[in-house]
Amino acid sequence: MIRPEESAITQAVIDRFAQTPDPRLKAIVTHLTRSLHAFVQEVEPTFDEWLSAIGFLTDVGRMCSGSRQEFILLSDTLGVSMLVDAINHRQAGGATESTVLGPFFVDTAPTAPDGADISGGVAGEPLYVDVTISDLQGQPIAGASVDVWQCDSDGFYDVQQPDLAEHFLRARLTSGPDGKVRFWSILPTAYPIPDDGPVGQMLKATGRHPWRPAHLHFRISAQGHSALVTHLFVRGSAYLDSDAVFGVKDTLICDFPRHPPGQAPNGRTLDRPWRSLQHAFVLDGI
Ligand code: BEZ
Ligand code: FE
Repeated sequence: MIRPEESAITQAVIDRFAQTPDPRLKAIVTHLTRSLHAFVQEVEPTFDEWLSAIGFLTDVGRMCSGSRQEFILLSDTLGVSMLVDAINHRQAGGATESTVLGPFFVDTAPTAPDGADISGGVAGEPLYVDVTISDLQGQPIAGASVDVWQCDSDGFYDVQQPDLAEHFLRARLTSGPDGKVRFWSILPTAYPIPDDGPVGQMLKATGRHPWRPAHLHFRISAQGHSALVTHLFVRGSAYLDSDAVFGVKDTLICDFPRHPPGQAPNGRTLDRPWRSLQHAFVLDGI
């Protein structure tokens, strides 16, 4: 039962925000106060628990650096990133579904021509990707900027290996007049999100695993259309039903068929089996 003197504290804080000039900010701080106080009322923390919560958030902040954003990882693992994404994509259906951006996007990916090999020569099962970008009416979109990035076959992104100066398994391509983007890469694998910090401790303490199912990232932007941030997941990958960041959507799970050695697209001949991925992306209007 909430005692009157306890709800009086909540009301006093809300009243103190009453003169906030910006109406949106006023709504946010009022809801924050209500929800945070309701959470504390439900949990009834001891002083020690409250202090360890503050210690945890302090550790999350300390873990952040130019190359590590532990607060986004916390948001991801609590499902908040996917909730914000869902709230901001309530438009009528038809467009490709979105999912989390993740911490490994970089805005300075090397550009690559149609049909390029973006693997940087790293080991892995060759993968030929052939995707189409179109609008809601099915018209191909030429000139779309398509960022792709993925992990290597050990589950690491290039940016997690700072000793390697070059970017690999990452590129920025441009769709052709037929809306197509094609490139060679390798089959990505399932991998754990960075779990050597407080978020990893939270996962361990709650019996959760840090793994994400195998996927390729795409960020597609074109004039006159909403930018799309999404993944394509490998059907059959481990962890599709328990992604650590809740990013899997059924429509984003794709077949990556295996082909025998021999003739491959783009005039390539391979002496080992290879995979392919085809997908049609649909961009929303603005
Ligand atoms: C990723 O897929 O790159 C990712 C997404 C969220 C948290 C960590 C990694
Ligand atoms: Fe990823």
